[in-house]
Amino acid sequence: MLEKAEELKKTALDDLQGAANPAELNEWRVKYLGRKAGALTQLLRGISQVPVEERAAFGQAANELKNLLQAAYEAREEELSRPAVEMLKTIDVTLPGRPVSLGRLHLTTQTLREMYGIFAQMGFQVEEWPEVETDYLNFELLNMPPDHPARDMWDTFYVNPRVVLRTHTSPGQIRSMRRHCPDPIRVILPGKCYRYEAVTARSEFMFYQVEGLAVGRRITLADLKGTMIDFARQMFGADRQVRFRCSYFPFTEPSVEVDMDCIICRGEGCRVCKHTGWVEICGAGMVHPQVLTNGGYDPDVYSGFAFGMGPERIAMIKHNIDDIRLFYSNDVRFLGQFG
Ligand code: PHE
Repeated sequence: MLEKAEELKKTALDDLQGAANPAELNEWRVKYLGRKAGALTQLLRGISQVPVEERAAFGQAANELKNLLQAAYEAREEELSRPAVEMLKTIDVTLPGRPVSLGRLHLTTQTLREMYGIFAQMGFQVEEWPEVETDYLNFELLNMPPDHPARDMWDTFYVNPRVVLRTHTSPGQIRSMRRHCPDPIRVILPGKCYRYEAVTARSEFMFYQVEGLAVGRRITLADLKGTMIDFARQMFGADRQVRFRCSYFPFTEPSVEVDMDCIICRGEGCRVCKHTGWVEICGAGMVHPQVLTNGGYDPDVYSGFAFGMGPERIAMIKHNIDDIRLFYSNDVRFLGQFG
């Protein structure tokens, strides 16, 4: 019987090392220390077969074994729970949680999407054209031969003598006309533009424009006016007033500048509108006959209007932002305020 006890001790301790989690540990406890059918209980039931004079020694041995297995069990239990305890020591559960910071869309992207939505309702589709453009499309086909003084309106980054970073999205007018001719057109052409200019609160060397172009039969200046008024009222509020001033662009005739009553002071005069009561929202005009011709359309049959808007400027008016440099200087304190 004493040998049996010795054997039980060996297998029980071996087995215990194999218990790797609380569930297995519990199985082990039931198997060896369980009161009803545990191996130790069964061993003790055999005491009747032990000769009377050896019973005391056997009882003592069985008792020692029980204590030993119990201690081994507790030690293993402690061992298995230690990693969790260690971890708890390094985590201060009383600290407040760290806020999860979410990314969001750039203000320019938000503004562009809002503009797309408004123009989409009026039937304009979005088309995109290259940022690196030929001098030919950026200027010549827009009625500005190499020596034309109006080129001074755009300070230009030249990639080489024939290639520029587009100074405006207007070369897209030619590209769209050549793509769609002779069908009618209603498109907006968004994208980045570049100008070799000093960076100030009012001008960046890189900014976005949204060009608009409509070409068809019997399109008039009244269509341009209606489109601009509708845009201003959807973007800035139903009570907006819009005015059109004479202007000049080589690729439109007549040309206009579109102003809207200042949303900050409602026409009273303030810093934003430089005390005029009006803010400029875009340049526009009727597509010049020569530009229609360059795009493949017969100017005796077709006419069209075009406009060029600055989404950063739209966003600046809308959110009362007084420095365009904030848009692209990657300061999340600024960018995080929108959306
Ligand atoms: N391209 C002009 C600019 O950059 C704006 C414009 C577009 C004017 C379309 C008329 C028609 O200033």
